[in-house]
Amino acid sequence: MTDVASQGPAPGDGRPVLTNRQGHPVYDNQNQRTVGARGPATLENYQFIEKISHFDRERIPERVVHARGVTAYGYFESYGKWGDEPIGRWTRARLFQEAGKRTPVAVRFSTVIGGRDSSEAARDPRGFAVKFYTEDGNWDLVGNNLAVFFIRDAIKFPDVIHALKPDPVSHEQKPARIFDFMSQTPESMHMLVNLFSPRGIPSDYRHMQGFGVNTYKWVNQAGDTVLVKYHWLPKQGVRSMTEEDAAAVQAGELGHATKDLYEAVRRGDHPEWELVVQMMSDDDHPELDFDPLDDTKVWPEQEFPPRPVGRMVLDRMPDNYFAENEQISFGTGVLVDGLDFSDDKMLVGRTFSYSDTQRYRVGPNYLQLPVNRAQQATVHTNQRDGLMAYDQDQHGPNPEVNYEPSITGGLREGTYPTHDEQGPEIRGRLTRSRIRRTNDYLQAGQRFRLMADWERDDLVKNLTDLISQADRPVQERMVWHFLLVENELGLRVGEGLGIGPKDVAHLEPLAGQDLTDEDRERL
Ligand code: HEM
Repeated sequence: MTDVASQGPAPGDGRPVLTNRQGHPVYDNQNQRTVGARGPATLENYQFIEKISHFDRERIPERVVHARGVTAYGYFESYGKWGDEPIGRWTRARLFQEAGKRTPVAVRFSTVIGGRDSSEAARDPRGFAVKFYTEDGNWDLVGNNLAVFFIRDAIKFPDVIHALKPDPVSHEQKPARIFDFMSQTPESMHMLVNLFSPRGIPSDYRHMQGFGVNTYKWVNQAGDTVLVKYHWLPKQGVRSMTEEDAAAVQAGELGHATKDLYEAVRRGDHPEWELVVQMMSDDDHPELDFDPLDDTKVWPEQEFPPRPVGRMVLDRMPDNYFAENEQISFGTGVLVDGLDFSDDKMLVGRTFSYSDTQRYRVGPNYLQLPVNRAQQATVHTNQRDGLMAYDQDQHGPNPEVNYEPSITGGLREGTYPTHDEQGPEIRGRLTRSRIRRTNDYLQAGQRFRLMADWERDDLVKNLTDLISQADRPVQERMVWHFLLVENELGLRVGEGLGIGPKDVAHLEPLAGQDLTDEDRERL
């Protein structure tokens, strides 16, 4: 590589000389080349055209969701066991096996709905995405700060996001649209009870939990599987803001949470989370009143105790926002040996969506970028070329063999660990149907009953303020749902809207809605 400073006259203070991307020194960065001092400009003005045309392309599309975020680096340290039991009993994933084993991580925290420069004090779920750079390649655990989600089938994701995003006509975020959708989506009640409580506005990224939300599997050496849910618990504690707190914060600063994280990590106050896992045997669990593959449900802690498996510390911040925050790419399909998917219909849909959007948003070779590549594992592929191909994998004595199988060289299939690909036999009709045991209200009511009085007051106020902006039939349907969630919630929101139980008594269940016997009794 040429030393740019040797190519032009040094300005005298030892600073490198500005060049263009071809390595040509720039002698005048203030004036275009023109015919005479007053123009016209010339078209062969390479330096100017290169500068302005690169600038014209500086932005890539922002993420379709989670556009605003901040990345941080650190490590994950496994506990190796819980109690007397080695974690290897449940998963053969190598990062978990030894106590004290450290795996580098990159984490990106985000808000979901706002654009790249939007407020970080918005009421919105927060993203909590962790990339583990393991020796077996990368593992991404792409979670949120709330334990459940609005919907349970990926086919509804574009709709829920369209309802939450600004109106396509005026580009205003409108509660009327949000609650129009939610009123027709009973599975969203559990999420709404969380999101409109103080938990819906974390004070910053250091004081919030993280949840994998979807159900995954762990696979051990014998090929036995268990269903798992992942949770991150902040050692710093959980702090939230009311609407008024948030308004005061965003009056002065839109990016307070990014600023808070940069400042804390740089002053050596390294935030830490414990990773805990809940498990259940890998079957349908007909004894439960919910489906273990339903991401609108939490797993009761008494029956499925959270087991600590390791801790994560963040101790370094990026040097370049674009390279490390804008281009970092996470996906639910990015798993290592010993970790697996479940048939959770959201998870399967998500897994297609992430890499699909990244091929568009960042480009087909997004996995060659330093922040995305498998830093702790060697990469040998037969993938070639493509837009912005930068670093073709070099391998073996016969690099011209970029196909497999071959007896003349090139790459071969791996032999370790031996995978038993005989999974469970799956039978069923091709269908389009909702899962059974939808039970949309029970856990939402339990969550409400767990809240302190001030949290209930805040929830009722937030819901009433926003639903009052919706049309009357939407308001009535929301009160109807809330009465099914918990009488107190329905009565109080109803009171704020001027809608009593009698006003909603005429409403029938939504088309196709499954109600439990208990729900029917409450109607
Ligand atoms: C980002 C799709 C549900 C957490 C994204 C992105 C897409 C997407 C397309 C943008 C990715 C990028 O541009 O790099 C979906 C679909 C879902 C779904 C189709 C449902 C079917 C969820 C759920 C969670 C979640 C349930 C939480 C568990 C995240 C996070 C990010 C993200 C944290 C930001 C990742 C980053 O920081 O780059 N999602 N998502 N998503 N999603 Fe989802």
